[in-house]
Amino acid sequence: MKNLIILTGAGMSVESGLSTFRGSGGMWGKYPVEQVATIEGYYDNPELVINFYNDLRKQLLTVNPNHGHKVIAELEKYFNVTVITQNVDNLHERGGSSNVIHLHGELTKVTSSKDPNNPRYIETLATDDYDVKMGDNSADGSQKRPFIVWFGEAVPMIDEAIEWVRKADIFVVIGTSLNVYPAAGLLNYLPPRVPIYVIDPNELPIKGSDYHFIQNGASKGMDELMKILLDKN
Ligand code: APR
Repeated sequence: MKNLIILTGAGMSVESGLSTFRGSGGMWGKYPVEQVATIEGYYDNPELVINFYNDLRKQLLTVNPNHGHKVIAELEKYFNVTVITQNVDNLHERGGSSNVIHLHGELTKVTSSKDPNNPRYIETLATDDYDVKMGDNSADGSQKRPFIVWFGEAVPMIDEAIEWVRKADIFVVIGTSLNVYPAAGLLNYLPPRVPIYVIDPNELPIKGSDYHFIQNGASKGMDELMKILLDKN
């Protein structure tokens, strides 16, 4: 089976009721990014940051995967699909996708403040235990923090993502403005002549000899893409 690699961003989850980060109604218009999404912001006021992610985590319980997430999962019947997502929600998994690489962490998990990428300290919270409090400590004695990659932090999953992009036969980009690195740089690792499909209501500054822009939201866009891929492959 061909390797189909799908890079997703916040636009993927818009039709599930979650916000994007940039643009009108985006999260960074409502919350100061320096405070809630940087490592300095966390050191400055851990309680505020922990509560912010508690709220986002609880919001997950109120939303569901949309049709686009489900079509991506269905593509596993025809392709070897790897989803590389910048999203911290769990909607790809809940939509049925089996191989999901989270570049920016996962809302459902917490980790040690001292050693955040040590697998020993990364734990998945039970859905009835989504509220992390000051004083809840990891096994190393440090405050439990959200398992989120903040600005200013390393992106450990990027290496695995690059490996998959190098092996891509078809590459799809859905709902990301490609403003944030290293995720945006993944396109540079694509083998030459790999077809690129972009699904987004807004055009992106991508060029390529085999570039296809599907100007639509994630759900309708995925229906269109499914037809195109099944016709061609
Ligand atoms: N379907 C598909 N795409 C959509 C939809 C929709 N219904 N609605 C909006 N979009 C598109 C927008 O046009 C935009 O191109 O989704 C994209 C969202 O872009 P951003 O808000 O910049 O989100 P993203 O690219 O995921 O941000 C990357 O930035 O702040 C950090 O860590 C955060 O992971 C995030 C990263």
